[in-house]
Amino acid sequence: MKILVTGGAGYIGCVLVQELLNIGHEVIVYDNLRFGGIGLLGMFRYPKFSLLKADIRDSVLLKKAVTKTDVVVHLASIVGYPACKKEAQLATEVNVEATRLLVNMLAKEQFVLFGSTCSNYGAAVDVICTEEEPLNPVSLYGKTKTEAEKIIMNDCTATTYRFPTAFGLSPRLRLDLLINHFVYKALTDKYIVVYESHFLRSFIHVYDIVRSFVFGIENRDSMAGEVYNVGDESMNFSKKRICELIAKEINYYYYLAEIGKDIDVRNYFVSYNKIKALGYHTTIDMEIGIKELTSGIQAIKIVNPYSNADEF
Ligand SMILES: NC(=O)c1ccc[n+]([C@@H]2O[C@H](COP(=O)([O-])OP(=O)(O)OC[C@H]3O[C@@H](n4cnc5c(N)ncnc54)[C@H](O)[C@@H]3O)[C@@H](O)[C@H]2O)c1
Repeated sequence: MKILVTGGAGYIGCVLVQELLNIGHEVIVYDNLRFGGIGLLGMFRYPKFSLLKADIRDSVLLKKAVTKTDVVVHLASIVGYPACKKEAQLATEVNVEATRLLVNMLAKEQFVLFGSTCSNYGAAVDVICTEEEPLNPVSLYGKTKTEAEKIIMNDCTATTYRFPTAFGLSPRLRLDLLINHFVYKALTDKYIVVYESHFLRSFIHVYDIVRSFVFGIENRDSMAGEVYNVGDESMNFSKKRICELIAKEINYYYYLAEIGKDIDVRNYFVSYNKIKALGYHTTIDMEIGIKELTSGIQAIKIVNPYSNADEF
């Protein structure tokens, strides 16, 4: 199958593209390489891989890439509330307007899998979020992804996946994601100050996200037109519990502070029954993920340019 992955050079994209190539698909990555393209270096040896370095807002190049593809996995986005807050205009153009552009180019027989977020539930405090829960995003990130979901689900043959916060290693590593960040801080600073430590958050390993896309491609006929939360209830954790699990791997100190607030309010329990009923299940639990991160982060060199002595 010929698959276009927008944002394919990103944290999730790199792991997904490798998997799609492994199982024999032809993959075109469409990405402006906002964070570089190092994560894709291992792909160029595959004859079925190609990269189009271009902006998702460029209608001419996007049209060229979309033509003759069977499936589009749409990941290109300004991701997370701090990045969207910093570049609000860009976030709206990329997350909403470019999604509209893409959708208008697609024929009915082309299938889209959209990577959305549980942030769209926003201020749904103390409820169990099924896919039917009204969306109530608080951050610009959540608002733009909610808008993009509507555009996609109204106007083309598509499935939307709402993911919780990802964690785990990728060739294009993100250390701003909560679990990745905590493990990094525990290794480097040897302490973490945690606010809203009892708030519940839901997590998924990046490889399980990738498996869900493969699952969606394989089951597109039965999944098209539907929205799914992707994850597992066993991966709902408080930040305090995450700190305790990290302490099993790393000798560090954590302080549960009374101050501080997460602007992207999240304190909800997500239900994943809908996708589990179809036979999709996550495979990587938090303990394994924390072990992986602890070893992996120590294998990369992160240099503070103003220090002579950076080490773990
Ligand atoms: N990582 C998570 O925890 C998470 C959770 C839920 C949903 N998602 C969604 O999954 C998708 C991928 O997230 P990620 O963590 O890999 O983020 P990422 O920032 O690593 O990847 C986004 C990619 O989009 C590309 N991009 C940005 N603007 C572009 C533009 N104008 N033109 C072309 N390409 C552009 C970037 O270069 C980058 O490679 C996003 O849509 C995000 O909303 C991620």
